[in-house]
Amino acid sequence: MNKERKLIIAGNWKMNKTVAESLDLARSLKIDLASVKEVDIVVCPPFTSLSEVSKAILDSNIRLGAQNMSEHNAGAYTGEIAAGMLKEFSVRYVILGHSERRQYQKESDALIALRAAAVHAASLKPIVCVGETLAEREAGQMEKVLETQVRGSLAGLSKELMAETVVAYEPVWAIGTGKTATTAQAQEAHAFIRGVLSKMFDEAVARRVRIQYGGSVKPSNARELMSQADVDGALVGGASLEARSFADIIKNSI
Ligand code: PGA
Repeated sequence: MNKERKLIIAGNWKMNKTVAESLDLARSLKIDLASVKEVDIVVCPPFTSLSEVSKAILDSNIRLGAQNMSEHNAGAYTGEIAAGMLKEFSVRYVILGHSERRQYQKESDALIALRAAAVHAASLKPIVCVGETLAEREAGQMEKVLETQVRGSLAGLSKELMAETVVAYEPVWAIGTGKTATTAQAQEAHAFIRGVLSKMFDEAVARRVRIQYGGSVKPSNARELMSQADVDGALVGGASLEARSFADIIKNSI
């Protein structure tokens, strides 16, 4: 597939997989995806598996991501993980502001912006998630919600750092529900987000930012979604928990 930006496809394992299960999955992916050069491939295991997965994918084309990170470098923040700790395991990407964290941990756009700055300060790359709920979409609020989240979560980044930031558009109603946005809905939202980035930064920066789609991505719909002009990859939950389906999503996207 001939794309303006290199595709980036990341697996978000969420709160799944023991260390042994993570290793099985990582080892299978390393073999199944060894020949893929056209796509940036990322896996985001739970924190407890980062160490072993990091070793398992050494010398491979798979990069490691974390599912969250503190905005602080160290200190009395029980249960939090700092950038320096992630870097010990060669983590390169950090998912921030996933809708599950916005919902269950009440993460705000302002907090996500602080974390995005901390991720960049550590020379890691954030994957910043945005997306509307079904109620917001049905109330005609999609654009307003997306613009607020994009402006708030990415506030304060320089143009250079914004260009190195990945945005994930994940309509909340499509996550884990089996309901995928139609390709037209995905493209419309992605183009809208790119337009907001263009207003916030400039057009050249907006053209460089990779915007992933997330929400029930599977091998059967990956190709059509990735064929959209402004869809530059995927953030995959459920279908990334099994080597075959994650590898097929990537292969079907090339
Ligand atoms: P899903 O999750 O693929 O299981 O819908 C996507 C995500 O939440 O990142």
